[in-house]
Amino acid sequence: MIQALENGLFVLQTPHSAYAFQALDTGHLEHLHYGAPISPTSADALSEKKVFAGGNLINLDPEHPALCLEDLRLEMSGYGKGDIREPMIEVIHPDGSRTTDFRFREAVLLPEAPDWDLPTAYSDGKTGPAEHLKLILRDEARKLTLELYYSVYEDCDVICRKSRLYNEGDEAVTVERLMSTQLDFEGSDLVFTSFHGAWAREMQRFDVPVTAGCYVNSSATGTSSSRANPFVMLHPAGTSEDHGSCYGLNLIYSGNHYEALEVSAFGKSRFVSGVNPRFFTWRLEPGEHLDTPEAVMTWSGAGFTGMSRQMHAFVREHIVRGTWKHKTRPVLLNSWEACYFDISESKLLRLAKAGKQAGIELFVMDDGWFGERNDDTSSLGDWTPNRKKLPGGLSQLSDKIHNLGLLFGIWVEPEMVNVNSQFYAQHPDYVMQIPGQPHSEGRNQRLLDLSNPAVVDHMIEVMTQVFSSARIEYVKWDMNRIFSDVYSPFLPPERQGETAHRYVLGLYRMMKALTERFPDILFEGCAAGGNRFDLGILCYFPQIWASDNTDALCRLGIQEGYSYGYPMSTVSAHVSACPNHQTLRTTPLDTRFAVAAFGVLGYEYNFSDLKNSELERIAAQITWYKTWREVLQWGEFYRGSDPGTQGRGNLASAGRLTAPLHTWTCVAGDQSAAVGLVMQELTQPNAPTAIFRAKGLSQTALYRLTNDPQTRNIRQFGDLINTAAPVHIRQDSHLHYAVSRLITMPGEQESVTLTGQELMGPGLHLKQAFAGTGYSDQVRFFQDFGARLYYMTQVSESEAVPEAQAD
Ligand code: DGJ
Repeated sequence: MIQALENGLFVLQTPHSAYAFQALDTGHLEHLHYGAPISPTSADALSEKKVFAGGNLINLDPEHPALCLEDLRLEMSGYGKGDIREPMIEVIHPDGSRTTDFRFREAVLLPEAPDWDLPTAYSDGKTGPAEHLKLILRDEARKLTLELYYSVYEDCDVICRKSRLYNEGDEAVTVERLMSTQLDFEGSDLVFTSFHGAWAREMQRFDVPVTAGCYVNSSATGTSSSRANPFVMLHPAGTSEDHGSCYGLNLIYSGNHYEALEVSAFGKSRFVSGVNPRFFTWRLEPGEHLDTPEAVMTWSGAGFTGMSRQMHAFVREHIVRGTWKHKTRPVLLNSWEACYFDISESKLLRLAKAGKQAGIELFVMDDGWFGERNDDTSSLGDWTPNRKKLPGGLSQLSDKIHNLGLLFGIWVEPEMVNVNSQFYAQHPDYVMQIPGQPHSEGRNQRLLDLSNPAVVDHMIEVMTQVFSSARIEYVKWDMNRIFSDVYSPFLPPERQGETAHRYVLGLYRMMKALTERFPDILFEGCAAGGNRFDLGILCYFPQIWASDNTDALCRLGIQEGYSYGYPMSTVSAHVSACPNHQTLRTTPLDTRFAVAAFGVLGYEYNFSDLKNSELERIAAQITWYKTWREVLQWGEFYRGSDPGTQGRGNLASAGRLTAPLHTWTCVAGDQSAAVGLVMQELTQPNAPTAIFRAKGLSQTALYRLTNDPQTRNIRQFGDLINTAAPVHIRQDSHLHYAVSRLITMPGEQESVTLTGQELMGPGLHLKQAFAGTGYSDQVRFFQDFGARLYYMTQVSESEAVPEAQAD
């Protein structure tokens, strides 16, 4: 709900949060509150009572001797009238000066969201329509109008903000920064949590207390980036997974972004976020406007979990759109780690057949199918099938894949070109490069100049041709380099500072056109793994490849990192071979599956080379997943109570007396069913009792919890076989193998019926883990990187069979 009161007070309310500010008589907007729900009717208690200017502060004007903008919480701030903190807007006027002085003029409640030059959150009317507020501010002297927009999504406790600047003067101005949001807080005790990494180690959580100075999370890669995701959290130091205040903040943008928290000399904290001002300038001609990306803000008093759940609901309902918004995602098999560039129709069909046997629903041909693409040095831009590899082109392969009973998908990288390509020879002017200067390469490729509308139009047609040349149900849209030598041959020199942002606008136009032309294709975003995992991409593509790292242990941390700001229905996760191709680590197949199953499940694995027993195990995994995927893809995801920052887990906890385990729970929307994960890093022998504590269940309902029956290959016990064998068996000998085919070791199965209260409170004390002795079918075989999936279904009192009888 949005209230604009006659006394100049504005209150934006969601069921569990409130946001308030007031217009001062000078036209400055004093921010009053964002956080726990309140319903003020006046600003008396919330506003600052200043009667004189302290020390060497600048006072605004003689009529307002106590008004010092440096020490006031503001809804927006410019530069030059005394506020020296991170501004929301910086403009160079025609006379070279930079001072702006915006004053509030008018507020308008809008029935509809305004048209915007970038993708924004939306409401389909079913999940509670958003309310929109427009504030008009004017810098009269400079003839600039700034509009601040607020949208309230009550169903998920989210408030969005964005800004638009109009030049109503007679000359162009240069915009050096225009932020999407500004949030001023009283106090200097916030921890800034952001998620950093690089290729193959995305989304590592870092907590930085910002008690003085300025801390910045930003990307200058041209993309939202694996270096620093635009999703961040602000919270006091005491906030934990389940308790305390937490702000979740994100930006609907896929390019260079900027999130800063600055503590002022007076103990106030200011957060701003928007397009990164570094390398950005925008020439705004008379009559033109500039739109910012939309910023997403949520507050929860229920810790990181409460905040995450609100963000998840918001992304699911108000960001992701189109055919696949609520549609079950198919289990796919991707050719990349199975074949890399070495593909052919026959090889792919062999792989697809094995996939079909295992229960795969969608077969995806990754890189290597077009031009002369045998490695990454050539052919990006030449989007015609390689006839040596695919003699009948895409359509023949697609037909054959469909004849196997599978859906068919392809990989493309439409934003890129290799210099070694026909495309580059024909259209060198379509490529981002500084004329006459040597160019640095990334993965041997360059960026198309998407700031040029002709290039965007051209690529829309090229991709339309590709996507309509065969039956294609899925497209993986990749983007494998970051920006360097940024320069648009299309733009004049004075507009080169616009290139990176215009690239993103061009990209959005291209994605919009293609997703509208092919509404039924399931698009998956990708950028060298998770180099562009953000809300801008999710406005067009419902899921994103989270990382090229498919190692289960690394993925545990990476997916947990994403889970703070993004629902699992957007996180694509695959099971792959071991030793893992990125880490050379060997983790159990069941662990690889358990971790991937919490995202949108796929495999990239050479099924054609697997033993029957391995393929059968995978088939069993896929069958299980199909039973549980509604819960896993659309349920409420919870991290365990103390996941901590990445890299902790039980690796660094040998001295701790509890057995720290990573636990996740995913609960069906109606709480009728849930899936839990327990995973450990390194085994400790004779470890303390391990406990699985579920989350999100109904307190009073009864749940039957169980896990799949476990069996162990006797070879996993190595030489210990001799403690039981009547004759000596040399480890790894033929005899050892022969015995392992005849004897399977049973493993533990949990099977209990407990109330949600019990499962979430004291939790389930798991059966004892293997400790060198006493092995039986009641012992939990849990080696390094061991994991278990526990599934819970609500049962009635009468179905709750007492344990003794159940056994
Ligand atoms: C990078 C992606 O992240 C991989 O999954 C794969 O598609 C390769 N590109 C192909 O070149």
